[in-house]
Amino acid sequence: MPDFPVVALRSVEVTTPRLGASAEFYAKVWGLDIAAEAEGTVFLAATGADFHVVELTQGERSALGKVTFRVRSRDDLDRLFACASDSGCEIITPPGPSPAPSGGAHFVIREPQGCCMEFVHGDRTKTARIVADRPERLAHVNINSADIEKLSAFYQQALGFRLTDRSKLMAFLCCNSDHHAVVLAEAPVNGLNHIAFLMPNLESVMRGSGRMVDHGFPIGWGVGRHGPGDNVFAYFVDPAGIVIEYTAEVLEVDDSYRPKGPAEWVWPPGRTDQWGIAPPKSEACKTAQLAVPFDADRRA
Ligand SMILES: [Fe+2]
Repeated sequence: MPDFPVVALRSVEVTTPRLGASAEFYAKVWGLDIAAEAEGTVFLAATGADFHVVELTQGERSALGKVTFRVRSRDDLDRLFACASDSGCEIITPPGPSPAPSGGAHFVIREPQGCCMEFVHGDRTKTARIVADRPERLAHVNINSADIEKLSAFYQQALGFRLTDRSKLMAFLCCNSDHHAVVLAEAPVNGLNHIAFLMPNLESVMRGSGRMVDHGFPIGWGVGRHGPGDNVFAYFVDPAGIVIEYTAEVLEVDDSYRPKGPAEWVWPPGRTDQWGIAPPKSEACKTAQLAVPFDADRRA
């Protein structure tokens, strides 16, 4: 593998108009644990090594507060900050100690299309476990972009990500052996498309989906198997209108992986995934995938 300065997608911050209901949903239905609560933020952990994978904060409307990536070294943190600054990012918080319970050193910027991004090094971790039917960690975030090529170039040139595939509507970007940690989706507006959580296996995607259905959350799209990344998926809309995905069996890539382009990622008529057994994506899911903006007010 090439050396990446960013080594992992760690967590996302989401604002919700109903903090209590959202926290209860993620802890009791989606399969996360409350790891900490501090200054109005609820930190939710998966079963893997990350201290937390979701931060929930109260807001007037649902929005993506920030996406957090783990960085390889403290030197890389400073280098990335310089690259982000030179690339026209707005500086929200310069490099320094993170105030979050997960600690470490961090900085926060807003990239030119409006997404707040945090980079951390030396954050707290915990002993990883694998628990059936519960998320281990984040798998990817999917970001809506009105100009994918520009944002893809930023991820590659300023942040050191690598393009693994490009379909007609999406760019897939990796920062480790996962086929993608970030997906950019062509959209009329910039914002959050969805957040994907890695399950231990296909069986856990199925059983987790059953748990969601039991609690009144229908499958918005799936269960199916994607083309790029080869991962299985089931999409849902959470109580705050955020689209969330259970996924598993994500393709691992190395230096020999050859990115395919839009002409090669073409489905036969009527297909949107490899299996072809899922009903068409629900209107509620389609609408929610375009309805969650970046939190433009986020300042610290
Ligand atoms: Fe996804």
